[in-house]
Amino acid sequence: MQELGRRLAPLLRPGDLVLLSGELGAGKTTLTRGLGEALGVRGAVTSPTFVIARVHPSLTGGPALVHVDAYRLDGGLDEMEDLDLDVSLPESVVVVEWGDGKVEELAEDRLHVVIGRAVGADAPSGADGHPEEDVDDVREVTVTGIGGRWADAGLPELEIC
Ligand SMILES: Nc1ncnc2c1ncn2[C@@H]1O[C@H](COP(=O)(O)OP(=O)(O)OP(=O)(O)O)[C@@H](O)[C@H]1O
Ligand SMILES: [Mg+2]
Repeated sequence: MQELGRRLAPLLRPGDLVLLSGELGAGKTTLTRGLGEALGVRGAVTSPTFVIARVHPSLTGGPALVHVDAYRLDGGLDEMEDLDLDVSLPESVVVVEWGDGKVEELAEDRLHVVIGRAVGADAPSGADGHPEEDVDDVREVTVTGIGGRWADAGLPELEIC
């Protein structure tokens, strides 16, 4: 997931909104860590448990990374604006965990990353037909660009195994 984040980073521009979906522990924060690393931002990307959003300024003159955990954000966009982040969203890359149905209005275009764990028939199995012990490590990721911004952004080249 971290490597995927690193590969996504060069595609991102100021003002981009990235929505991360996936169950608890799917790897949303891990992906964001890779993004932050490759964007060259300050501060460790961690799970923002006690804060809803954390701003990581760029160390390289690029866009800041705004990392949002919308899990406890009930009011959607209004509440998000009330956070009064000391940064301009159009000049930042905004990554939101648990943002489905809450923050889409922030930007017409968005990159939607859906992280799923391979379970059941999709999970690779060992020679005896039982799932291998590290089956939990397998993630299936779908990256969908929504809006004109992503129409020609080279998303297919992201595929990693
Ligand atoms: N592809 C993977 N293979 C194995 N472990 C992974 C993978 N992706 C993430 N992890 C591990 O899963 C754990 C949880 O990841 P992470 O905190 O990124 O999840 P999250 O989706 O942000 O969860 P939450 O919804 O609680 O915020 C971490 O310990 C991370 O190292
Ligand atoms: Mg997280």
